[in-house]
Amino acid sequence: MFRFWNSVSRKLTLLTVLASATAVVCASVAFFAFDLSISKRDMLQRLHVQAAIIGYSCVTPLVFNDPKAAKNTLAAFRAARHVQFAGVYTPSGEFFAGYWRHQGPNQRPPRLVSRSQIRNRWLLDSPFELVQAIVFEQKVVGTIYIQFDTQELTARFASYLAILALIMMASLIAALMVSRMSRRVISEPIVRLAETARLVSRDRNYAVRAEPSGKHDEISVLVDSFNTMLAEIQKRDTALQEREEQFRTLANSVPQLAWMADAGGQTFWFNERWYQYTGTTPEIMMGWGWQSVYDPDVLPEVLAKWSVSVQTGKPFEMVFPIRGREGTYREFLTISVPMRDHFGNVVRWFGTNTDITEQRRAQEALRKSEKLAATGRLAASIAHEINNPLEALANLLYLAKKKPSEGEKYLSVAEQELDRIAEITRHTLGFYRDAAAPVKVNIAEISTGILALYGRKLQFKQVHVRKLLSEATEVSGYPGEIRQILANLVTNAIDAMGPRGRLSLKVTPALEWSGRRRKGVRVTIADNGSGITREQMRNIFEPFYTTKKDVGIGLGLWLTQNLVQKHHGTIRVRSTVDSGRSGTAFAIFFPREIAQAAQPAEESQGRKEAEPNVSEPS
Ligand SMILES: Nc1ncnc2c1ncn2[C@@H]1O[C@H](COP(=O)(O)OP(=O)(O)OP(=O)(O)O)[C@@H](O)[C@H]1O
Ligand SMILES: [Mg+2]
Repeated sequence: MFRFWNSVSRKLTLLTVLASATAVVCASVAFFAFDLSISKRDMLQRLHVQAAIIGYSCVTPLVFNDPKAAKNTLAAFRAARHVQFAGVYTPSGEFFAGYWRHQGPNQRPPRLVSRSQIRNRWLLDSPFELVQAIVFEQKVVGTIYIQFDTQELTARFASYLAILALIMMASLIAALMVSRMSRRVISEPIVRLAETARLVSRDRNYAVRAEPSGKHDEISVLVDSFNTMLAEIQKRDTALQEREEQFRTLANSVPQLAWMADAGGQTFWFNERWYQYTGTTPEIMMGWGWQSVYDPDVLPEVLAKWSVSVQTGKPFEMVFPIRGREGTYREFLTISVPMRDHFGNVVRWFGTNTDITEQRRAQEALRKSEKLAATGRLAASIAHEINNPLEALANLLYLAKKKPSEGEKYLSVAEQELDRIAEITRHTLGFYRDAAAPVKVNIAEISTGILALYGRKLQFKQVHVRKLLSEATEVSGYPGEIRQILANLVTNAIDAMGPRGRLSLKVTPALEWSGRRRKGVRVTIADNGSGITREQMRNIFEPFYTTKKDVGIGLGLWLTQNLVQKHHGTIRVRSTVDSGRSGTAFAIFFPREIAQAAQPAEESQGRKEAEPNVSEPS
């Protein structure tokens, strides 16, 4: 039945047949009912006439009490096939004479019924009755009572049924022919259209087309629109396939491992490099299979972060190791961004894993080489700083030997020079004896040491130094590295200034200027040197960027930024090159506790606000 109703043409056939059958049945029933009622009335009228004629013929036998003559008269009913009994009764209701079509041996005449008792129903099996008075000279002389069967009506009804069956057959054939025609005209094009639609959805083949009906009706409009739609889909499908092919080629040619996950975070695609690197197969990797190549130690953290991203739709970024096919782990920077639909809902995630092992090694090597370079520079400046007091010491010892009387005076000055050498040495050692874990560092103290270390250089250039070193400037950190940071900034400032420049060094407790407003210490080193141009500002934190030709390596600020990051601090720079008010100010914020500041990477990174011409350095 279900299959039957699935076919438009069968439905049309059935509806045509049903409609014509209903029409035929209704028309026939109305006609037959009308005809039967007319037939019944005619039959009764005929019998009335017959009863009147025969009743009249029975007047004489009744008047002369001759039942035999009456019986003979009644025998005339033999010609009326449907009359089963006809009887004449006296006015007092006694049987007088009768006629039976099939008379039994001891058959008794039926009792006379009154007219009101007669109910000629439409039931075909019950006999019809007729009672009529016999009147002579306006006096009732008797009653004629007739019983007759309804065979005539039954036969008529049967023939009507046969006719109805014939008409039904004929109308059925006509309806089938009509539906055959309508099938060709209406349902077949629709069926063909449906078949094409089925093929398209089953094979995803948008190259097929529905056959045009060749007419100019609504169905042909439907077929044309469907074909136009298919052509459009085919065009888009081809474009989509091309783009997908381009995407796959691109995704497989990039050096990164790439993957895609659904909105729920389940991965369903990896690029070839992923399989090449991990030595896995798509079957192992699908869904959450990627977990097998992650370091079990970091896996819980990765999963926690990933589920937060999936729930909130925020991009995912993390560095962690991934196991290669040989079983060794390499460091990868993993970034995943959500792709959204028109309504802003995440539909999938696109992720990449970038191997940063070599980059990290290179950075480490660079850091070491810069440390070596810094050591060289430092050695030179120490030699320079110590050379003067040593020269003075040699002079003083010579004078003391020459003039023993003033020896004590010379020796006490020599002692001061020795103290100075000792102080320089003490600060110098601080660069190399760095702690493995963060320790309490007093930045104001370190700043004093740095100014002492570069004291002669500052003196030589006649730089006016303004110090503002507050109390309570302790942070947790690595003293050697903080020294290195300050030394880099102070030497840069000295390099940038001409004779009689002004250098300001401020160390104060402060709140972080943005973000989480952590407590810590701010160091500001400002000079009225040449300033940094907008162009230079874009590069000063890049490794090997220098404007100092032969004397600079260009690693100072790059290393400074790295070290600030290590302390979870932030670095800002303001500078102007406007003549008459040029200068530069570097400000570094060190949080009081490194542990307290250990937050997601993007928050803890050193922030550099490379905005030249922002304001006058303070
Ligand atoms: N206070 C400053 N005033 C003007 N320019 C500066 C200042 N600090 C840094 N710069 C600019 O930034 C550049 C990069 O500085 P960075 O300390 O990284 O390298 P460098 O000083 O040139 O070399 P080195 O590796 O020896 O430190 C400098 O060459 C200079 O042009
Ligand atoms: Mg420098």
